[in-house]
Amino acid sequence: MKKTHNKSVLVTGGAGYIGSVTSKLLTEHNYEVTIIDNLSTGKLDVIPRGVKFIRGDIGDISLLRKIFNNHKFECVMHFASLISVEESIKHPEKYFQNNVVAGMNLLQEMVASGSCRKFVFSSSAAVYGSAPKIPIDEETPLNPLNPYGQTKKIFEMFLKEYAKTKVIDCIILRYFNAAGAYITKDGIWGEDHQPETHLIPTLLKAALKKKKITINGSNYPTPDRTCVRDYVHVYDVARAHILAMEKMKSGIAIYNVGTGIGYSNLEVLQMVQIVTNKKINHRIGKRRIGDCPVLIADAEKIKKELGLKLEKSDLQTIIQDAWLFTQSQFSFKKI
Ligand code: UFG
Repeated sequence: MKKTHNKSVLVTGGAGYIGSVTSKLLTEHNYEVTIIDNLSTGKLDVIPRGVKFIRGDIGDISLLRKIFNNHKFECVMHFASLISVEESIKHPEKYFQNNVVAGMNLLQEMVASGSCRKFVFSSSAAVYGSAPKIPIDEETPLNPLNPYGQTKKIFEMFLKEYAKTKVIDCIILRYFNAAGAYITKDGIWGEDHQPETHLIPTLLKAALKKKKITINGSNYPTPDRTCVRDYVHVYDVARAHILAMEKMKSGIAIYNVGTGIGYSNLEVLQMVQIVTNKKINHRIGKRRIGDCPVLIADAEKIKKELGLKLEKSDLQTIIQDAWLFTQSQFSFKKI
């Protein structure tokens, strides 16, 4: 018998880390999923079974027009974006082109076609910069410290204006540090950037391959002098998207996606040593340009208004799942 689907969702950047986990979860909730991804950083083999895949760029207006004219979507989830703070400092133009200009094409074509009015946007805690008060709530003034964060702030501003004119309804999710892996009977979906700049996968690869890593800076105003971050499991981030789509009201709403708990870089290193039972060889290096000293979410609003209950976001579970993924990459691809 032919399986009947729930509603249809367009996922941009669905071959990337958080986009692919969310697409997988959407299929498990019986949504029909279409992914558009240019595979500049995403990978074909993470596209979940049963998903329609379009290889293409959201900068391609005629492709977008074709997609929106041929299909009605319940929601667009917009993940496609460049995400490296360091690269954004070296090549801001690339970030403005991809994250702002191409994103505008997507929004504009979605609105013009009338094929969809719900939009969920992957924003980032990077929009806050050095916040005056920790934990950081959604009302905190935005003060990004790098071009990456600026692109997210600018796109948020567009969304607010579009929502004011009542042509879209929108939820902006400001992720803190998404990490971990989604372990399913069909395989493991995890974080695998090239080059890898994120702390947890870098530590885990170092554990596996006995490599030395550098902790960026130990002169921050924090208890152990290294930066502090709020790590949230990628599975909980994906669940936040589905709740956002299903509970979206008219207009716009903004939610932090974090836990409210911060761990320093050295505390994360310590937890990686415990989980992997391996000693990580490390040195203390210079500060990384554009790093905020402390990013910890006030994570109450999404709990209260969308009913998000975090299921896997304690640091040990995050690292255990990410460790399974790291090992699977170098021994077997799928479990
Ligand atoms: N770090 C090291 N050594 C490494 C890698 C990272 O010391 O080899 C440090 C960083 O300097 C930083 C901390 O680990 O102090 C976390 O760095 P990540 O690169 O893992 O994450 P970021 O906080 O820089 O950025 C991530 C996302 C952004 C998002 C931000 C919001 O990549 O998209 O979280 O919190 F904006």
